[in-house]
Amino acid sequence: MLDIIINSLWLIIPAYCANIFPVLVKGKYPIDFKKDFVDGHRLLGDGKTIEGFFSGIIFGSLIGLLQIYLQPFIGQFYIFQFQHSLFTIILLSAGAMVGDLIGSFVKRRFGLERGAPAPILDQLDFMVFSLTAVSIIISIEVSWVIFLLIITPILHYSSNIFVYTLKLKDRPW
Ligand code: CTP
Ligand code: MG
Repeated sequence: MLDIIINSLWLIIPAYCANIFPVLVKGKYPIDFKKDFVDGHRLLGDGKTIEGFFSGIIFGSLIGLLQIYLQPFIGQFYIFQFQHSLFTIILLSAGAMVGDLIGSFVKRRFGLERGAPAPILDQLDFMVFSLTAVSIIISIEVSWVIFLLIITPILHYSSNIFVYTLKLKDRPW
C-alpha cells in the first residue's frame, strides 16, 4: 500500500502543481478568444486563459525538474518504480492543462456557466488526461490510478477551500 501511495503521488506532483498555478495567475486573455461554439455557448469561457495555460505548464515542469534533481538522493532511501524525466514532467503538466480545457469545453456544452460546479469533472479532468498522456512513455499500475481517482477529489477540494479562504478564488470549487 505504501508503494502505491508513494509512487502515484510522486508521479502526479507536476500535474497537481500545473493545475493549481493558474488560479494564482488570474490571466486576462481567454484562450478561446471569447468565441462561441456552434451551440451558441462559449467554446471554453473566461476561466481558461492563455497566461493560465502556459504558466501552469511551466510551473508544473519546474517542480518536475526539482523532482528529477531530488530523485537520486531520495533513491538512497526509497527505490521508485519509475524515473521522472523531461518527457514525463512535460507530458504530465501539459496533459493537466489540456485536460482542464477539455473539462471546461464539456461544461460549456452542457450549458454550465464559467465557475458553475461540475462534481467529478472539475476534480478529475486534468488528472485523467495527464495520466493518459504520461502512460505513453511509462507503465502505470492500475492500483495507482485507483488510488489517485480517490485521493485527487479530496485534495482538489481541500486545496480549493484553502485558496478560497485566502481570497484567491471566488468559489470554493
Ligand atoms: N485559470 C486561468 N487559465 C486556465 C485555467 C484556470 O486563468 N487555463 C484561472 C481562472 O482565473 C479560473 C481559475 O484559474 O477562474 C480557476 O480555474 P477553474 O476552476 O478550472 O476555472 P473556472 O473559473 O471554474 O471555470 P470552468 O467553469 O470553465 O471550470
Ligand atoms: Mg472551476
